[in-house]
Amino acid sequence: MFGFGAMIQKLKEDPKKIVLTEGDDPRILEAASRLLASNFLTPILLGDEQKVSNAAEEAGYNIRGAQIINPLNYDRLDEVIQEFYEIRKEKGMTLEKAEKMMQQRNYFGTMLVKMGIADCLLGGATYSTADTVRPALQIIKTKPGNSIVSSCFILVRPGATGENEVLAMADCAINIQPSEDELVEICGETIKCAKIFGIDPKVAFLSYSSHGSGKGDSVDKMRNATLKAQEEYPDVPIDGEFQFDTAVSPRVARQKAPGSKVAGYANTFIFPDINAGNLGYKIAQRMGNFEAYGPILLGLNAQINDLSRGCNALEVYSMAIITAALT
Ligand SMILES: CC(C)(COP(=O)(O)OP(=O)(O)OC[C@H]1O[C@@H](n2cnc3c(N)ncnc32)[C@H](O)[C@@H]1OP(=O)(O)O)[C@@H](O)C(=O)NCCC(=O)NCCS
Repeated sequence: MFGFGAMIQKLKEDPKKIVLTEGDDPRILEAASRLLASNFLTPILLGDEQKVSNAAEEAGYNIRGAQIINPLNYDRLDEVIQEFYEIRKEKGMTLEKAEKMMQQRNYFGTMLVKMGIADCLLGGATYSTADTVRPALQIIKTKPGNSIVSSCFILVRPGATGENEVLAMADCAINIQPSEDELVEICGETIKCAKIFGIDPKVAFLSYSSHGSGKGDSVDKMRNATLKAQEEYPDVPIDGEFQFDTAVSPRVARQKAPGSKVAGYANTFIFPDINAGNLGYKIAQRMGNFEAYGPILLGLNAQINDLSRGCNALEVYSMAIITAALT
């Protein structure tokens, strides 16, 4: 299904370790037991060893082989605290504060990735997006050449011809009000991610206006971002600003954007802000029968991903594979 086979194959050739911050959550335990049975991804479950084992036993999941790390008694805790302090001391961090923060699994788990003890991290079954992402922004940081961390969702549903319909949408989860230049960067990162999922990207910059039909600052922002993105990524079909119907309906596109190579056939969508993006992907998920995978964080030095608090075990399992395969 949409590149999962290739991702699993990649992990079989180069197995990874993934931190799952909410180690005693039944959904995490179910996903961990499935991962352990398949042998290409080793979960590191964070939490009290006894509590995690008891929770697994009660729920009937076999987590033999999983590494369980309790941040409170980890044998390398002093080293983790010291390194975290070094990273954040210029931001006013003290050793005392660092020690306290390492009791929080989101911060501790992110440090395991930073120190190379794990390859990647998936959290957010109980933490908010902000609480999962903030440690990554502060510790893992934006990769060289990028100015922001952003995110995209991959949406998948079975198509009429039997092939999956796969779309990419960004930024639906991180940047609240991206600027023109940030939208261009989001576009570039989303193109790369879309390709990994087998999408041949045709990118639409979305708005309430199609090629100048509406006026306003946010229309100008999307039009200018389109022009800059076309210049920056000349090999990819990019167009806008488009209303959503212009982007996906060939009939509407003929009227509102004649001659566009993207209009009517877009499969990669750049939203003007997080309100539009977050609502947009959820409408597709809840009313359009798409499975939504993400948010997949883009532009970080290591792969850290966030789960929705409403996630189920299958989503945890799928996101764990995606997170590790993108590492
Ligand atoms: C991502 C988010 C949590 C950051 O908020 P925040 O922690 O209050 O941000 P701050 O301005 O205090 O920045 C914290 C650190 O992250 C960095 N940062 C913030 N946003 C960033 C971004 N988009 N890319 C890279 N770094 C970023 C800051 O530079 C700062 O680093 P520093 O401490 O080393 O100086 C915030 O943008 C947010 O809440 N986004 C929406 C999340 C959400 O609710 N999504 C919907 C559900 S899916």
